[in-house]
Amino acid sequence: MRIEKFDAVVVGAGLSGLRAGLELSREWNVGVISKVYPVRSHSGAAQGGINAALGNRPDGKEDTPKIHAYDTVYGSDYLADQDVVMYMTEEAPRIVVEFESMGTPFSRLESGLIAQRPFGGAGFPRTCYAGDRTGHALLHTLFEQCVRQGVKFYNEYFLVDLFKADGQIAGLIALDIKTGEFVSFRAPNVILATGGFGRVYKESTNALINTGDGNGAAYRVGVPMQDMEFVQIHPTTLYGSNILISEGARGEGGLLYNSKGERFMQKYAPKAMELAPRDIVARSIQTEILEGRGFEDAYVHLDLTHLGKNRIMERLPGIREISMYFAGVDPIEKPIPILPGQHYSMGGIGTKYNGDYGETELPGLFAIGECSCLSVHGANRLGGNSLLETSVFGRYIGRTLLKKGKSISASEDSIQKAEMAALYIIEELLDKWNSNTGKKPNEIKEKMGETMNRYLSVYRNQPDMEKALKIIEGLQLDFKDINIPTTERKLNWGLIRALELRNMMDIAEATVRGAIWRKESRGAHWRTDYPTRNDKEYQVHTMIYPGEKGMEIKTKPVKLGIFETKERKY
Ligand code: FUM
Repeated sequence: MRIEKFDAVVVGAGLSGLRAGLELSREWNVGVISKVYPVRSHSGAAQGGINAALGNRPDGKEDTPKIHAYDTVYGSDYLADQDVVMYMTEEAPRIVVEFESMGTPFSRLESGLIAQRPFGGAGFPRTCYAGDRTGHALLHTLFEQCVRQGVKFYNEYFLVDLFKADGQIAGLIALDIKTGEFVSFRAPNVILATGGFGRVYKESTNALINTGDGNGAAYRVGVPMQDMEFVQIHPTTLYGSNILISEGARGEGGLLYNSKGERFMQKYAPKAMELAPRDIVARSIQTEILEGRGFEDAYVHLDLTHLGKNRIMERLPGIREISMYFAGVDPIEKPIPILPGQHYSMGGIGTKYNGDYGETELPGLFAIGECSCLSVHGANRLGGNSLLETSVFGRYIGRTLLKKGKSISASEDSIQKAEMAALYIIEELLDKWNSNTGKKPNEIKEKMGETMNRYLSVYRNQPDMEKALKIIEGLQLDFKDINIPTTERKLNWGLIRALELRNMMDIAEATVRGAIWRKESRGAHWRTDYPTRNDKEYQVHTMIYPGEKGMEIKTKPVKLGIFETKERKY
């Protein structure tokens, strides 16, 4: 087995991984491992924008990081850790200006200042954007900076397992997809930035690569999964394909109509209307469809026709293309058929109470971006806060580690033993998969995805979730007997699918178990059998640990104290 040694290894080359890698490699020997070529990372699919209280309104009204933090905490249904939110919103203007100085082509106001559009749950037009391809612009900007600085990339390497030695992280085993070779990346600091895991659901706006590889690996070395029950269902995905139709479309003035021609948001959020937060808009659309006021019992209309050709072409060109190519609808002329779809995970790799932001309970292991739960989004994320989180905490973790100085590694002997033990487990697993006669990974993945869509979506209840748990447990058994017929490891996509599924099975189970445990409705977790928020019992984070007999649920306090907990009304 090839061995590579670093001061730190970053896994993932989306915005959070690139930003961490850029910062750390100023002074340290760092390797950035990515399952795909960096600019194919899913951050590039983000459309609408990045939030920062720049206050660039033409009317001169003031916006501040504290107001941004308040909107975020209120939107989170009071489950966000308030100190982390304050840090993020205070850093937001600086990170946007940094992107601008690196060359991001932000859209502009007449005055030349960075343009900002309104987004859901925000009291101000605070979302900075580059047309409707903001993620693409930011990702390319950061990648260019990494190339300029000579960041060392390992592209098309798949994270298989982490290993620890002497009670701390010691490195990871990755599969070089092109050669089929296992490589050990030894490092006393590992930063997981593997992105979202939306592909646990069948219908999702996520790329097929979003399979929670970091989450599964962290869980297997004993790090808990946090707040997994909070899954963001984006209100507007394209009917037929679930491709994202950006919130930016409503930010620009897009309106939602049911089949009776009613602007139904009037009933659900009379003040904020289409710009209520995502959990509320998604529930409203789903209710209209369930109660028979959708089109073909399946979708509602997002109407942009009144915006006019010029505005659509200038601000939403990507949305127009997507609608035309994938639904045959030109939004300049006709409304877009949309329905809610899985989009984002508020939960993720659990972080340490009162640790550095992103620090896990395993010394030397850190998690940032969507794979992590820091928790800046609580029970419901505001649009535009995800791109912000990735870059703010990517930079933060880099700076924090450099400030602390290089860590002392575990002993050479313990590292070698841990590495060989990890490799042994993998080799054994692969031999078993090659000799099994059971199902193919995709058969299990399909059933898992359908189950999550059906029972763990906008509305949830106990009997449905129990059904889901039973199905997932059955699939776990099927997974033990999974069959990979080809022993060739080079470019073996069946093998990659199986390794991905190994991670997703744990993620799916944790999502269901967390949702069953939480007997209240909060943010994106809405239970028809417990339709109110219960702060007394449930204003806590769920932490799911691997126990002797399976998953064990514990709790962690929410960091409050800056904003008073209130009822949410929009
Ligand atoms: O709707 C969107 O453009 C998505 C933005 C986000 O998830 O932050």
